Amino acid sequence: MEDLRVERINKAAEFVASKLDGRKPVVGIVLGSGLGRLAEQISDPIVIPYKTIPGFPESTAVGHKGNFIAGELGGKFVIAMQGRFHYYEGYPMELVTLPIRVMKVLGISFLFVSNAAGGVNFDYKVGDLMIIRDHINLLPNPLIGKNIDEFGPRFPDMTRPYDLELIKKAESIASEMNLVLKKGVYLAGTGPSYETPAEYRYFRLAGADAVGMSTIPEVIVARHSSIPVFGMSVITNEAHDDYADDYVNDGDDVVAAADAAATRMTMLFTRLIESL
Ligand code: HPA
Repeated sequence: MEDLRVERINKAAEFVASKLDGRKPVVGIVLGSGLGRLAEQISDPIVIPYKTIPGFPESTAVGHKGNFIAGELGGKFVIAMQGRFHYYEGYPMELVTLPIRVMKVLGISFLFVSNAAGGVNFDYKVGDLMIIRDHINLLPNPLIGKNIDEFGPRFPDMTRPYDLELIKKAESIASEMNLVLKKGVYLAGTGPSYETPAEYRYFRLAGADAVGMSTIPEVIVARHSSIPVFGMSVITNEAHDDYADDYVNDGDDVVAAADAAATRMTMLFTRLIESL
């Protein structure tokens, strides 16, 4: 009997594929909070609302739309997720990572992920772009449960979660563009509450440079299927412990800060896709 999870992935992929005029996307792109603007640069876009796809839930987070957008970017046929499913919205990990497996079935060769994150590294400022070079996962592992052997092994290697060649290319493109990039470790917790000052300090001591509530489940599922991953965080707040007395972490400010940095991230992603 076929695994119901595989049936769900294949059904959704078949639906999405039927909208792509027989074209295979080379790159899958996950757009984080406030970063959906990259999708506006995709030419001849084919918009596929999640709610029309069999087996998909609706995205509800602030700053997130809920569409796949396929089309040309950097001279390649790509498929972008304008909005993702977060664990804090109450979705099980199977649904959080469903779009990644759907894109795998569609045939992507690379996955680019992005997010809005708090900068716990004291050198990080609002608007900085950070290449994710490694991560610390404090969310449940999305591979818990019976392994889906068709997609990858029971115990996948995570020695190099973020592709070293893509990181090198991104750094060289950024230097050509006079774009200063940070490179660091992304830590994800469940959210949705932001961290306490003590938690920010704890994460910094643990080796994190940026903190958020997403991305890692998608990366684990992509790596399970051997898809090379490039990840980028946009620093939307300085997650320090030296706040002004009236400082508050605010979701709308996070989205506004991400929006302001989205243009730079879009340029970098586009050039990186061109180089593939
Ligand atoms: N913490 C967690 N998630 C976030 C933050 C933060 O400070 N900023 C943006 N996403």
